[in-house]
Amino acid sequence: MEDFAIERVREFGARIALVLGSGLNSLVKDPPRDQAIPYTEIGGLPRSTVKGHLGRFVLGEIDNVPVIFAQGRVHLYEGYNARDVTAGVRFLARAGIEKIILTNAAGSLNPAFTPGSWMMLTDHLNLTGATPLAGKGDFVDLSDAYSRNWRDRFAAAARAENLILHEGVYAGLVGPQYETPAEVRMLRSLGADAVGMSTGCETIQARALGLEVAGFSCLTNWAAGLNSAPLSHAEVLTAGGNSNPEFVRLLAKALAGS
Ligand code: HPA
Repeated sequence: MEDFAIERVREFGARIALVLGSGLNSLVKDPPRDQAIPYTEIGGLPRSTVKGHLGRFVLGEIDNVPVIFAQGRVHLYEGYNARDVTAGVRFLARAGIEKIILTNAAGSLNPAFTPGSWMMLTDHLNLTGATPLAGKGDFVDLSDAYSRNWRDRFAAAARAENLILHEGVYAGLVGPQYETPAEVRMLRSLGADAVGMSTGCETIQARALGLEVAGFSCLTNWAAGLNSAPLSHAEVLTAGGNSNPEFVRLLAKALAGS
């Protein structure tokens, strides 16, 4: 089964994959059946248990550039481990993907980064205590985890499209509870600009396999304590969905000619 899925992705010929986070799935319109590969058809790929997360790869395109969309990831907070949450990245690398764009929903920690806007990751703090490389003896260099080349390209695309694209550091925690105001103050003092519950382990795995990584946070809310509204998953999903059109424009501009 897995070999068959790998062959299909290989034959499709995409070099870029886009992993869609919470609320961002509507970026992919309902694909024809023969262009979707459910994770259940691939051995070793766990299924998401969370509302708003599907579980499939879609063979699609952005402005005529072939792209594999990963709709739905699994998270540490679902009880999965760091190997489970990165199984999709390993599959994509085996299937010929060379560049991976990781997206997520995150809370803003930076007073200048208003919810509804996007942040490009310049770096991360992996505060999950987990790594997909445990037991692998793999001393991977993460000094440029988020490709400088791609960051320049996306920043230029944002300027050309007149879109606001913040740049900052993403802190990845296990969740699933949102942070306390004290944790939010700690994260700000550590230099984080956004906080979420994914991405770090995937970046580590992707770099270990030599993939080029770009990361984007859809800032769906102020992190806890930065305003008086309580946080809800439904709010995160809605805010994510509303920010899609801008991100699609950014992607189309940045990927043109890839
Ligand atoms: N904290 C952690 N994860 C999140 C948040 C948040 O405020 N918003 C969306 N994902």
